[in-house]
This record gives sequence, C-alpha cells and structure tokens, in this order.
Amino acid sequence: MMKNFQKKLKQLKDKNRFRSMSLPAGVDLTSNDYLGLAGHPQLREAAIAFLQDGGAIGAGGSRLLRGHTDAHASLEEFAATYFVAPKTLYFSSGFQANSALFQTLPSRHDTIIFDEYIHASAREGIQNSYAQHIRVSHNKVSAYEDALRSVKAQQKGAVWIAVESVYSMDGDVAPLNELYALAKKYDAILVIDEAHGTGIFGLNGKGVSEKIITAHGYERIITLHTCGKAIGVAGGLVCASEEVIDMMVNGARGFIYSTAPLPLQAHLVQKSLELIASQEGQERREKLFTLSKKAQQFFGGSGTHIVPILLGSDEHAVDIASMLQQKGYDIRAIRPPSVPEGTARLRLSLGADLDENTLDQFAADLTPLLDERAA
Ligand SMILES: Cc1ncc(COP(=O)(O)O)c(C=O)c1O
Repeated sequence: MMKNFQKKLKQLKDKNRFRSMSLPAGVDLTSNDYLGLAGHPQLREAAIAFLQDGGAIGAGGSRLLRGHTDAHASLEEFAATYFVAPKTLYFSSGFQANSALFQTLPSRHDTIIFDEYIHASAREGIQNSYAQHIRVSHNKVSAYEDALRSVKAQQKGAVWIAVESVYSMDGDVAPLNELYALAKKYDAILVIDEAHGTGIFGLNGKGVSEKIITAHGYERIITLHTCGKAIGVAGGLVCASEEVIDMMVNGARGFIYSTAPLPLQAHLVQKSLELIASQEGQERREKLFTLSKKAQQFFGGSGTHIVPILLGSDEHAVDIASMLQQKGYDIRAIRPPSVPEGTARLRLSLGADLDENTLDQFAADLTPLLDERAA
C-alpha cells in the first residue's frame, strides 16, 4: 500500500500538484480574513472575558445531548434577528453545514441544479444526496432555465438550485435576482452559499442576498454564512424557514453525530457579527471596497475582494507565486482540482487591513514577472 501511495504522491509532485502546508509569512494576500477581524482586540477581549466568566472550553457532547449551551442558543437567536431569518442553525464549520444541507434536505425524487464552480463542500453534500443532480455552466442564467424546464417537464419532485453569492476562486457575483425569478417561476428552492459575501455586501454586511430576502423572505431561500472568513472566527450558520432548520436538526448526520462547536467559538461569532454591524464594520467594508476597485484597475476581475490572476499552467502559477513569496508577499498558487484544468492562478485576496501603498507595490512587483513570462 505504501508503494502505491509513494507512486501517487510522486505523480502529484511531477505534475506540480503536490500540496503541503506552509506557515504564514509575509504580507497577507491570501487569507479569507477579509475584514481583518481574526485578530481584532475586541474579539480577543471577548474571548478572555468569556473564559474568565466560567465559559466551558469544550461543549462535552452533541447539540442534541448536553452540548447545547447558552452561547449556541444566544448566537442562533442573534443570527436570526441579524439575518432576518425565521430560524438559524450553527455548525462547527461551513464545510459541515454545506455538506449537511444537501445531504439532508433533497430527497430521492428531487433534483439539485448546481453551478459548475460550486464549492467542494456543496459537491460533497450533493454527491451524498439521493437526489439527481445537474451541473450547469457558471453563472449562465439561460442554462439554469434550460435545466429547470427539462426537470419540471419530467418529474414531480422538488428542485433545488445551488449557487454561491461570490464565487470563491473567481470573485464574481451570481445573478441572484434572475436566479430568484427562475426559482419562483419553476417553483424551486434557491440555496445561496454566502461564504465570501457575508460581512462585506448587503446592509450591515448581511450578504449579497440581503435585498432579495428583505423583499421575499426565506420561503424559497436558504442561506449559508460561513464564519471563518470575513467573520474571522469559525463555523457555519444556516438561515432558513423553521421547517428547514427543524429538518436539519432531525436529519443532518454531521449535526447529530458530532460534538457541538466550542461554546467560545459560538460566542465570538456573535461578538464579531455585532462588530460587523457597527460603524467600525462599515468603515472596514468601505476600505475593502476602495482596495477592491484599485485591484480591479491593476488586474481586472469583477471588482470584488477576490481577484483571480489567471496564469494557465500549474508550473507557471507555482513559479510566479514562489517569486512573489521571495519578495515578501504571502500569495499562493491555486491549481486544479480547486480550479478547472488549464486555469491555475494566483488568488489575490484583499483584506481591510491591507495598506493601499502595499497593493501598489505588489502590482509593481508582479507586472514585470507577468511580462517576462509572456515575452
Ligand atoms: C464557497 C465556500 N463554501 C463553504 C466553505 C467551507 O467553509 P469553512 O471553511 O467554514 O469550512 C468554503 C471555504 O473554503 C467556501 O469557499
């Protein structure tokens, strides 16, 4: 068996696809700490106060047993008010929440229509679901409609549409208004992964879907807000109707058969959401928008805080990333299978704490490397 692993690992190395971990070093152009809250003094103080006041470290059991604490209950109630949702459910990670959602809710006669660029966590849930699934071209509204029309003509089960609000590797935004209109027309449920939209877009950082939800509620919408990116902590919050959340509490294996997230973690997510809704949160968002517009002028993209710099081959991406790392930037090469074949890239991820001059300098350092390669 070891020989087999050695062979497979060598193949990965030969293809420049071997992954390994490296500690953060240099200017952060990689993390998903978009608002710079992961090390925020207010959250540190909240963590210390929580523990000093006797807060437990571990939950000691699953949420349905003794692991449900005041901190979890308080966060879910707070999040329901914040995201104007009938009910919310907090998971240990966004991955767990996303996977649980698709594994639990759609049933055998249902169909899940999903964007080709949807995150691995949604795919995992879709693969483990009994429902049929159809992959559609990225952000192509007509492809969604074709799929909906054909499914509706053939079967009577429910139809689910799975999208991200801001796509994790491309930074572009889903056409949510059009997709919601289609969901209504074809009586489908729209599941929106707000992993990269929460904290940044919408009123008080409630996400790209905030306007649609204000107008239409959660009757045919479910949102997922991961808490380890702009929120700066960890976990995943699902916002939905009471029935959807109750179904998850009663059926989601990753929820039922897993120790509850740390109570401290739940408490800090709540504190971070309070910060995100404050004046300081607004100022951090504005700073991020300024940086995003500047990065778009340099590198194109959609003008969000995620800027893909496409390089094509894996080797090229790894070389350029390594040259930039030597210059003091923490930026990593993103290769297949995280992105489609032939689209290896740098994923420039902006954060509100980044200095504008540093972004200028980064562009000045990167441009000649790209020109050199192109020549
Ligand atoms: C779009 C998307 N959904 C879900 C997740 C999973 O979230 P978490 O990191 O909290 O497990 C990620 C994280 O990479 C993501 O990018």
